[in-house]
Order: sequence, then C-alpha cells, then structure tokens
Amino acid sequence: MNEPTNPWDLVIEWLPANDDPERPQMTLSTVTVSGEADARTVLLTEYSSDGFFFHTDAMSRKVDNIVKNSAVALTFLWPGFTRQLVVQGRAELAPADEIMAAYRRRSPYLQQLAWQNTFEFSQLPLEERRTRWAAFAQEHANGFGQPENWVGFLVRPTRMTFWTSDPDAASRRVEYRASSGGWTIAHLPG
Ligand SMILES: Cc1cc2nc3c(=O)[nH]c(=O)nc-3n(C[C@H](O)[C@H](O)[C@H](O)COP(=O)(O)O)c2cc1C
Repeated sequence: MNEPTNPWDLVIEWLPANDDPERPQMTLSTVTVSGEADARTVLLTEYSSDGFFFHTDAMSRKVDNIVKNSAVALTFLWPGFTRQLVVQGRAELAPADEIMAAYRRRSPYLQQLAWQNTFEFSQLPLEERRTRWAAFAQEHANGFGQPENWVGFLVRPTRMTFWTSDPDAASRRVEYRASSGGWTIAHLPG
C-alpha cells in the first residue's frame, strides 16, 4: 500500500544523508548480563544498506552489554513527533577503516570528548574539568589523533518499524521483518 518493498528506500527518505551535519539522535537499548533493559541516547554517525553505525567508548557500559549480548534496539524520533523508526537487530564491531573515517569527520569538540570522557575525568570538580579541558585543547592545537578506546558498531537490522502520525486519521506502523532473500511487510496499529 504505497510503501516500498525495500525498507532502505524509506530510511533514505526519512533520515538525513550521511554528509548532512545534522545528525539524528537515537535511543540505543541494550540488555545487561542479568537480563535487565538499559538505554541511552547516541548519535547516528551514518548508515548504509548493511545497517546503522554509532561510535562510543570501548570502556562504556553499553559496549560491555553488547559484547555479552549483541541484541539491541534503536529508536529514532525524527523529525519531531511526526515519525518514529524502531530498529531491532544485532550489533557488531564496525570495520577499522569506518571507525577511523568517522573519527576524522567529527567536530574538534567531539574528537576531544573521545579522549577526555573518562571515569577519572568525571570525578573531578567542575573548575578542574574545565581547566584540564582547556589545557588538553591547547596541547593538541594541531589536532587530535584517534584514541585507542574509541570504537564503532554496526547495527544490522532484523526488523524495522516505521511509525507515522496523521492528523486526519489514526497513526500507523509499517513493519519490515528480514526474511530469507527479502523483507516481509505488515501494517500495524500505532
Ligand atoms: C544528544 C546526545 C547524544 C549523545 N551521543 C553519544 C554518542 O554518539 N556516543 C556516545 O558514546 N555517547 C553519546 N551520548 C552520551 C550517552 O547518552 C551516554 O550517557 C554515554 O554514552 C554512557 O552510556 P553507557 O554508560 O550506557 O554506555 C549522547 C548523549 C546525548 C544526550
């Protein structure tokens, strides 16, 4: 019913292109080793027909969750309150060249953040954090190399659900489930 048979056609229509500086936020849900749900916001770095990429600190809780259980969900509310895309899938380590290229494309602020977003730094009082931040920026005025603990993940979708609002009718979802050789489409109430 007017939807493309390939969900990636809708992703291209819905999300900003990879070279658009405006990056969508997404809620990344993971499962802890004791089976509890966990969630946090991350930026979508880029996507391809393989899946959705995000980048983070290898020492973070989310990475610990993923290493032990690769099942994840991504929830995009984009743009505003009119569209929601929920992706269910498996996360895997992104290729090293993708991780490097993504780091180079980050703003200087986000590059520095990858260096200083540590547990030790978080324990310092505000003034000390600001002093160390400014000193680090000055020491690396010629640029930041990629820190060792900076990693990226590719989320390969097994299910993608597109929710659309409609001021003149009920909201509705179109769900795509990966099946052998293609996608199975279902229409669901919203
Ligand atoms: C708008 C927004 C964007 C964020 N983007 C990222 C991101 O791309 N990568 C990241 O590691 N953390 C990002 N964060 C911080 C995470 O939400 C989270 O606090 C942090 O990664 C630690 O999560 P964890 O302890 O569950 O691993 C972002 C937070 C906000 C509010």
